[in-house]
Amino acid sequence: MEKLVVKGGGRLNGEVEISGAKNAAVAIIPACLLTKGVCRLENLPDIKDVKLFLTILENLHAKVCYIEKGVVEIDCTEVDCSEPPADLTRKMRGSSYLMGALLGRFRRCAVTSPGGCDFGTRPIDLHIKAFEALGAEVDCSYDIIKINAENITGSNIYFDVVSVGATVNAILAAVLADGMTVIENAAKEPHIVDLSNFLNAMGANIRGAGTDTIKVKGVPELHGGTYAIIPDQIEAGTFMIAAVATKGDVTLKNIIPRHLEPISAKMLEMGARIEECDDSLRIWVPEGTKLKSINFTALPYPGYPTDMQPQLVTLLTTTDGTSTAREGVWDDRFRYVSELRRMGANIRVEGKLAIVNGVPNLMGTTVKAVDLRAGAAMIIAGLMADGTTEITGIHHIDRGYENFESKFVKLGADIHRLQVIEDTGV
Ligand code: EPZ
Repeated sequence: MEKLVVKGGGRLNGEVEISGAKNAAVAIIPACLLTKGVCRLENLPDIKDVKLFLTILENLHAKVCYIEKGVVEIDCTEVDCSEPPADLTRKMRGSSYLMGALLGRFRRCAVTSPGGCDFGTRPIDLHIKAFEALGAEVDCSYDIIKINAENITGSNIYFDVVSVGATVNAILAAVLADGMTVIENAAKEPHIVDLSNFLNAMGANIRGAGTDTIKVKGVPELHGGTYAIIPDQIEAGTFMIAAVATKGDVTLKNIIPRHLEPISAKMLEMGARIEECDDSLRIWVPEGTKLKSINFTALPYPGYPTDMQPQLVTLLTTTDGTSTAREGVWDDRFRYVSELRRMGANIRVEGKLAIVNGVPNLMGTTVKAVDLRAGAAMIIAGLMADGTTEITGIHHIDRGYENFESKFVKLGADIHRLQVIEDTGV
């Protein structure tokens, strides 16, 4: 087991290169199952969830060639299995996309209920609604979800709740269907658009991604090609907040400013300054600036991202005055607050609302990463705190951030990774 040791008090300064988007990669990798030929993916982040997905595809007899850092070639022509290994698929939420991809390719599949971060219930009723609308029969009476279809026929699908995963799965299941599928109340996240752009580059016919109505006209087959994954909106936002939290001056390279607008808006509201170029963004806090308390609600895109909620709440813990954070997507995404309280934060949680009363400073102690984005928030808290903070549970962080601590060290942070000798209890 490992932990991170973070020494607080320093300012982040310099440039950081943002990696490819995790949530685009975990949708595009399974989408390769729908193609015949070689798909060359570029700007892939070197993170655990990507490595796991590539291993799952190899288990399905896909050929995966690791060309160079961030570049793989995947050939799914010979894939002949629609039952991915349960011990692997159970480890991440993104494995639910195998249902849509394998159903689209083979008209059947058997996939375990997906894993992923724990924010309360993570249902898949909307995924199932989409598959059944397309003509499939779904049996989820056991931990293995079995899906079968004589044919996949285009249909109208209306999502009662905006769901990234259900939108991805509906697209994957529909690209090779007979006829037109119209997905309404679709998710609009950048990674939905990236998936659609990838599939269209491989010969699909998808229109409207990024709006709440997506039309997928089924095509007979998809071919291979080359595609570069978009930069990670959430990694970029995490570094933006870390820069403001340490009153630093950081330039993010390889980003798409439009994807960061909801985060930039809140940082500007607090008193930070931002300069944008085509594929970079500089964020800093002018000397003597007193950051302002704010209120925010985490919502589906283009709202403020829920995957940035823990990071902003952490920043607000030492912002003078009272701020509020409303979680508009997940039932229980404040489990990390107890860790911040142990550092001296004054936060009251009432259901899906957190009320943050700013304190002069946080104190370093030992905290745990309860999930991926909460882990990132603990690093920000450690950078802000007086003294040293030790963070356990960092396997969560490694799932979604590439070379995370080394990027912070390059910006001047005092962070290092230590092996933890586990107590054998003897
Ligand atoms: C994706 O999860 C992301 N994961 C999550 O990011 C992110 O928090 C979430 O979208 C929202 O943006 C990946 O992309 C791999 P949803 P997903 O379906 O698809 C309800 C991270 O940190 N819902 O958009 O599982 C659900 O309960 C991770 O990178 C249903 O009711 O999220 C929630 O309230 C954490 N029925 C809301 O929709 C369903 O069938 C949004 O969930 C599906 C979802």
